[in-house]
Amino acid sequence: MSGQFITVEGGEGAGKTTQLAFMREYLEQTGRRVVLTREPGGTPLGEEIRALLLGHRHDGMALATETLLMFAARAEHLERVIRPALAAGHWVLCDRFTDATYAYQGGGRGLPPERIAILEDWAQGALRPDLTLVFDVPVAVGLERAGRRSAADRFEREETAFFERIRAVYLDRVQRNPDRYRILDANRPVETVRAEVQILLAEWLERC
Ligand code: TMP
Repeated sequence: MSGQFITVEGGEGAGKTTQLAFMREYLEQTGRRVVLTREPGGTPLGEEIRALLLGHRHDGMALATETLLMFAARAEHLERVIRPALAAGHWVLCDRFTDATYAYQGGGRGLPPERIAILEDWAQGALRPDLTLVFDVPVAVGLERAGRRSAADRFEREETAFFERIRAVYLDRVQRNPDRYRILDANRPVETVRAEVQILLAEWLERC
């Protein structure tokens, strides 16, 4: 059976990380070999780029720089981790991918999506995720959760309107392509969300 490329998206504090751990466990129980990874990051170079992007040493970073660094990390990730894993028949679970660039750099910061599409085509060729789960949570709830967890990174410091624009882009992308995207109401107890994730994955397994 061929591998599948599944990405997980959402605003801050949507509970992606908890659900990804569960997704890995569930898929492994069904006999799939799983690679769990994240963006920006997922490789030694990518993790260094992540530190530059999320840290506060370069707070005034230009939008083009920010976007190109996201794609630099992504190019490395694709070459060293994602493509080899898929070629070996593994399932790749990725915590954020290019949808996050459309949402954060596009919606959040105002970069035209056509620019992002050029980089997407260049870095990825025809490769797109097979399935994308979007964990949706009201902005205020997500920010409150994220704030409880750790000190704010360079993105978490933004104002509420920035996160509302991000949420709107995610919801729009889900609506435009219902075959690839599934939206989950993440403003519910972890166990309830987890049960829905399991149903979605079971359905997906039947299709593969
Ligand atoms: P997270 O993985 O802990 O959610 O943090 C990653 C941060 O990076 C998050 O604030 C979203 C942001 N991000 C972008 O702005 N663009 C991207 O393309 C990706 C992958 C992440």
